[in-house]
Amino acid sequence: MNQTGLTPKVEPPTDGLSLDDAALADWTRCGVPHLLGQYRPVHDEIDATDLLVEGELPEGLTGSYLRNGPNPLLAPHGPYHLFDGDAMLHGVTLGQSGASYRNRWVRSAGMMAEAEAGRPLFGGLAGFRPPPDDVMAKVGMMKNTANTNIVSHAGRMLALMEASPPTQVDPDTLATLGVFDYDGALAGAMTAHPKVDPATGNMHFFGYGPFPPYLRYHVVSAHGDLLTSVEIDLPQAVMMHDFAITDKHALFFDLPAVFDVNALMEGKPFTRWEPDLGARIGVLALDGSGQVRWSDIDPCYVFHFLNASEDAAGNIDVVGCRSSSLPVSFGDQPAADVSPTLHRWHIDAAGTVTTTQLDDRPGDFPRINDALTGRTNRFGYVGWLRDVVQGDATFGGVTAWDLERNESVTWECAPAEVCGEPSFAADPEGTAENDGWLVTLTTDLARDHSYLDVIDARDVAAGPVARVKMPRRVPFGFHGNWFAAD
Ligand SMILES: [Fe+2]
Repeated sequence: MNQTGLTPKVEPPTDGLSLDDAALADWTRCGVPHLLGQYRPVHDEIDATDLLVEGELPEGLTGSYLRNGPNPLLAPHGPYHLFDGDAMLHGVTLGQSGASYRNRWVRSAGMMAEAEAGRPLFGGLAGFRPPPDDVMAKVGMMKNTANTNIVSHAGRMLALMEASPPTQVDPDTLATLGVFDYDGALAGAMTAHPKVDPATGNMHFFGYGPFPPYLRYHVVSAHGDLLTSVEIDLPQAVMMHDFAITDKHALFFDLPAVFDVNALMEGKPFTRWEPDLGARIGVLALDGSGQVRWSDIDPCYVFHFLNASEDAAGNIDVVGCRSSSLPVSFGDQPAADVSPTLHRWHIDAAGTVTTTQLDDRPGDFPRINDALTGRTNRFGYVGWLRDVVQGDATFGGVTAWDLERNESVTWECAPAEVCGEPSFAADPEGTAENDGWLVTLTTDLARDHSYLDVIDARDVAAGPVARVKMPRRVPFGFHGNWFAAD
């Protein structure tokens, strides 16, 4: 590959956060597995321009890739769960003036209280501890870390974490603007995986919680107004990370990962796997009207869905990454040794479900060309899980699925590298579903640096057509999206 770019210019922002020597000394004593290796946090905020590019960036790829993920500001004093970390946004902008990078913590009220105190004040999912009374009064029992996804809708950039309402950030500076609850209209939390209907521009999402109503479904108009909120009856609170939509229905997977707030308070695992409770898929009209129609399925857990679609006769297909039980641990015991693999659930017009395994290789963080959300799509892109040990894993590449032909190809990154979620960036000149590129952050753990890899979605097996060298290692994170310049 040829290399272009000047020597990168790196500087801290004038209002940036960074750790002092005492706080860094805390980190050197910290041997928590989810804070080591690919998870090791970074300790400051920087702006960098003139990034080195290996290969050739596609002409049409102008815009920004933003990715969210956990990056605790302070070393935890107790048990740490991967889902606990304060949010850090990493942004890479590609355009006429080259490639630039910026990272910022999302300044949640909880994290800023800890920054002011100079010590952790909150426990987490692996060890709940109430904050001091004055902090509890201002912030609540848990931090709204906003650490899971970053989406844009109706002109608002929202950082999302499923236990809380959204946090709005400035799309250019990544500065935190504050919690956004649709001017008080949104009751409860918002999933980190909302879906935008390409026909209407409406955003559809749910929120779950530990107290009744355990599940709510919401629709926000293309203009950003909360149109609909409905309560959905569940027999008990369950952890529900994602859902799917078709052009006519919203699909909820009621899976037996029971969410128990009393156990959390007692320092026990707050999510228990109880397969005897069964599992089911709920189908609700997309506008929230009418009743949910439930269909039983075999117990399983699904963190992420690829997509869903529906034909004129009312047959629904939904594809997601299914594990036979919960693949993540929330207590002392390691997670069950199960791996998610791609499955399809076919729900016929009478509500009978047929489940088919599509792949036997483990994978998760599935993505599509989002213009096909809720419609029949041919191509899906799944992070290939290279090593899965007791629920922990690294992404070793990207599998591109041709669902029409039922075949796939995989790009594997180098053995010392790990990559992340493959987000789809549409080619503005494109007409076909797979006209575009996949962008993912890849880290060379041996050399301790990261790249934004750009892969042509039409030829995933060929690997990156360009790598933008980051000015720093970017820790493993959760979800990101490409935001085109226009
Ligand atoms: Fe997720």
